[in-house]
Amino acid sequence: MTPERRLAIAIEIAQEAGERIKQARQNADFKQSYKYGSELVTEVDVAIDEYIASALEEAFPGEARLTEELSPDRDMLNQEGPLWIVDPIDGTVNFAHGQHHVAVSIAWAENGKTRLGVVHAPFLDETFTALRGEGANMNGQPITASKAKRLEEALVGTGFPYDRDARLPLLRRLQLILEHCRDIRRNGAAALDLCAVACGRLDAYYESTSPWDFAAGLLIAREAGAKAGHIYRCPDGIPPELYGENLLVSAPDLHAEIKQLIERADSGQLH
Ligand code: IPD
Ligand code: CA
Ligand code: CA
Repeated sequence: MTPERRLAIAIEIAQEAGERIKQARQNADFKQSYKYGSELVTEVDVAIDEYIASALEEAFPGEARLTEELSPDRDMLNQEGPLWIVDPIDGTVNFAHGQHHVAVSIAWAENGKTRLGVVHAPFLDETFTALRGEGANMNGQPITASKAKRLEEALVGTGFPYDRDARLPLLRRLQLILEHCRDIRRNGAAALDLCAVACGRLDAYYESTSPWDFAAGLLIAREAGAKAGHIYRCPDGIPPELYGENLLVSAPDLHAEIKQLIERADSGQLH
């Protein structure tokens, strides 16, 4: 099957999932609970994961799937062969609070390299897509990342983990970013933050997230011309494209400076 055909099927599945997400919110009586102690999950997250898993299985029988709710086994990242990486609802807290930054994220990787990505935002009517080596689109139109050159002009997105203890050290980063850049945004859906970098709405984004949060959006941002990398060296044995600790994705000319700023913040040099 051609990559174009694969992408077309992934888009159809993501958009159908989006319709189901919108319907579920209209009904507004979904149950909410917590996983791993602090992570909010609704029954809609699970139902959408089930729908996407069965649709992918029907279209691509036997291909492995790493999905946030049903099969979050990260060991899959090191396996050879094809791998679907799915976040059924990115922005669960937004979804539960009636906010609009919510997305379905579907990526397809082969031997550790992401080949295609779809991020569909059902409440915003925006579908971001990319095929490796072919550029990135929003609703079928090409998009390009910001070409900002000065930190003072940079609008920077980030996010915070569910674990409250892990949030505190990140305040130092906020302090330096707020001191040197235009402002910060915390929109609540990592996949959409990456797409915002891809279409120039954000000049940079940094966070530590899980593969399902960023796999599709990272490809979309890179294909749109953003510079993607990690603040610290990636460990051996994990494909760097699927490693989500300390990601930094930005306008190319801002990358080195923001990386330095974050390194300074992490080492406590706040002045
Ligand atoms: C979360 C969102 C959020 C990010 C968190 C993710 P979820 O995903 O992407 O923006 O800051 O790190 O866990 O739980 O809504 O799928
Ligand atoms: Ca997510
Ligand atoms: Ca999710």
